[in-house]
Amino acid sequence: MKRYNNVILGEVIVAGDDIYGGSDRLLSKVIPKTGVVVKRVDTTSLDEIASAIGPWTKLVWLESPKNPRQMVSNIREIVKMAHAHDALVLVDNSIMSPVVSQPLELGADIVMHSATKFIAGHSDVMAGVLAVRGERLAKVLYFLQNAKGSGLAPFDCWLCLQGIKTMALQIEKQQVKLHAFITL
Ligand SMILES: Cc1ncc(COP(=O)(O)O)c(C=O)c1O
Repeated sequence: MKRYNNVILGEVIVAGDDIYGGSDRLLSKVIPKTGVVVKRVDTTSLDEIASAIGPWTKLVWLESPKNPRQMVSNIREIVKMAHAHDALVLVDNSIMSPVVSQPLELGADIVMHSATKFIAGHSDVMAGVLAVRGERLAKVLYFLQNAKGSGLAPFDCWLCLQGIKTMALQIEKQQVKLHAFITL
């Protein structure tokens, strides 16, 4: 078994084929150079996911709804398929906010948020959040953050905490406006 950068060559990430541009660049141009195989699928199709997941799959990465086309995937069923192969499921929940959707409740292992959007809420910080299931995974991420030095600055953390306090109120207000717009 060949290892490179602590990755076993040939391990697989199954990822959505229609996701946020930054994630798309990472998955198509950066990660494959590390020896990890990235298989892109339409995550709204359980058949496509079933045929892509296998014993080498370590992670399934999806957005639901997807950005930009807003198509919804069946997170609960995808989790069942991934866990049957001991693979983790990561859901980028940035478009929904933690107020409207909680993928951890649907069985996902890692939930990613662009905190730049709903969490900070005031367009005054760029930040990201990973919420994970269980202490083991949290410790792995904490170690990586400490080792790579990618932690958020204290002031930026404070801005996010300020945003979280009114996040639910802001989103409820936006939902009402959106509903009014849709029913025009
Ligand atoms: C689904 C999704 N994930 C992640 C990001 C990245 O967000 P940030 O600007 O905080 O890096 C975006 C940005 O548009 C997004 O739409």
